[in-house]
Amino acid sequence: MARKALIEKQSWKPGNLLSPAPALLVSCGGVGGYEPNLITIAWAGNVCSEPPLVSISVRPERYSYAIISKTRQFVVNVPSLRESRAVDWCGVISGGTVDKFAGASLTPAPALKVGCPIVLECPINIECRVRQSVELGSHTLFIGEVLAVQVSSALVDARGRLRLEKGGLLAFAHGQYFALGRCIGRFGFSVQRRKGRTRR
Ligand SMILES: Cc1cc2nc3c(=O)[nH]c(=O)nc-3n(C[C@H](O)[C@H](O)[C@H](O)COP(=O)(O)O)c2cc1C
Repeated sequence: MARKALIEKQSWKPGNLLSPAPALLVSCGGVGGYEPNLITIAWAGNVCSEPPLVSISVRPERYSYAIISKTRQFVVNVPSLRESRAVDWCGVISGGTVDKFAGASLTPAPALKVGCPIVLECPINIECRVRQSVELGSHTLFIGEVLAVQVSSALVDARGRLRLEKGGLLAFAHGQYFALGRCIGRFGFSVQRRKGRTRR
């Protein structure tokens, strides 16, 4: 009760403070007559499990917007800390006249199910076909059906578990990048009984 009394709040104007967001490299093009391109995206998320769907929100003025609208496909590449400079760079340079793969020293590699390339260096590559696009205002929401997923073998342990902590994950919050730290528990840890503890 005493601690609660110390928590003061301020009212801020409505905005996109939902944090942390991912910082993703979305690849597009390489199909439909478009050169491959990369766009950094933070407004993104998992939106459905069955079928697996992910969303990305893209401003119509982005060069990538026309590519994704026309080709109806993209790859969400989840970067590690190693790619953080490329993530920022692809988010401040437009691809109209620049080869962003070359400029960011990233390797385009074949996807399994879509025509756009994956980013080889990124630990997770999620290949999507646009199922729906929704014009929301400043951004258009593209909902992508996940057609294939590739993960880097180096992050899969002997038991087949994906050990993302080994990759060094990146997050974006209120204009700043963060390196995700130690794992503090598994799903459901709050209801698991601790070893050696007796029930009262
Ligand atoms: C961390 C970060 C997150 C971003 N998130 C988005 C986003 O969610 N949607 C968007 O339209 N632009 C976003 N941008 C801006 C684009 O990545 C940027 O305008 C980029 O240069 C567009 O590339 P293009 O013109 O080659 O498509 C973000 C930029 C950064 C640095």
